[in-house]
Amino acid sequence: MRILTGIQPSGKLHWGNYFGAMKSMFDLQAKGENFMFIANFHAMTTVRDGAALRAATKDVALDYLACGLDPEKTVMYRQSDVPEVQELAWYLSCLTPMGLLERCHSYKDKLAHGLEATHGLFAYPVLMAADILIMQADLVPVGKDQKQHLEVTRDLAQKFNNAYGETFKLPDAYIPETVATIPGTDGQKMSKSYHNTIELFEPNGSIKKKVMGIVTDSKTMEEPKEPEGNSIYELYKLFATPEEVADMAAHFRAGNYGYGHAKKALLEAYHRLFDPFRAKREELAKDGDTLEDILRAGAAKARAAAAPTMEKVRAAVGL
Ligand code: ADP
Ligand code: TRP
Repeated sequence: MRILTGIQPSGKLHWGNYFGAMKSMFDLQAKGENFMFIANFHAMTTVRDGAALRAATKDVALDYLACGLDPEKTVMYRQSDVPEVQELAWYLSCLTPMGLLERCHSYKDKLAHGLEATHGLFAYPVLMAADILIMQADLVPVGKDQKQHLEVTRDLAQKFNNAYGETFKLPDAYIPETVATIPGTDGQKMSKSYHNTIELFEPNGSIKKKVMGIVTDSKTMEEPKEPEGNSIYELYKLFATPEEVADMAAHFRAGNYGYGHAKKALLEAYHRLFDPFRAKREELAKDGDTLEDILRAGAAKARAAAAPTMEKVRAAVGL
């Protein structure tokens, strides 16, 4: 089974990215042939500064390696190191009805958040389909917001197969329901566009400030509280063991347990998981050569994996 996922280097990765996307990829790492790429072409829809894009690409690679990506088990590469995806995106584009892209929520959301309506932003799902289809992926771990893009991908694969003969596998999205939407510090979905994120590796002082600043209602410490739906509790569930979670729920319901107590428990649980990742990241960041070697080796494997499909595609379309 081939498993592929991609992530845009368009900002520092946050808790929502870790639990919504990265973790399911790590969990699947032992289950198939894995590919993970850094979608730097996609990030150009929002990042217009070359140095910033390059730095963010490196940051994403370091974050993944620090948190558990094993380059022996997962091929990690930069999207731009497989330029054939742009070629495939064109072939798919020629089969893509405008209406299909016009219906994409993500495009409409981005416009609603003030992004310029460029062709790149509009055609984004076609390039995403090319990323997936070029690798003949079976399974694509993504967040819930990417579900429609996977439907577009399947649709385009089908259109290509109908027009030119059986060429592409139809991939499935892998969206664990348990981590559907991670809340941010203001209770809305955590997202860099909403400025409510807690980054994976921001300085410890700033993590503490953000956790302590998570918005709550104004119940007093003495009052009993319903934990379900409370952002601190929802975030704690991601980091803590089931026993610890049950314990926090009981404390909330019993009363005499304030939001401050829960925030401290959340912070401790974050450190337990992330302190070793932070140490590993610092180690890797000191050694630029190893990172570049991993990305170059990944690029070579990814291009080799894409080659047979591209040969077939070119022959099919008449080139
Ligand atoms: P952002 O919303 O900060 O711009 P992206 O859209 O770049 O994040 O998301 C990258 C990946 O992380 C996607 O697969 C997305 O579904 C997942 N993800 C991001 N934020 C969350 C969240 N709050 N809850 C669950 N998954 C998330
Ligand atoms: N659109 C994805 C996101 O914003 C990133 C992405 C690009 C991707 N190409 C992909 C994810 C292919 C999975 C497979 O998160």
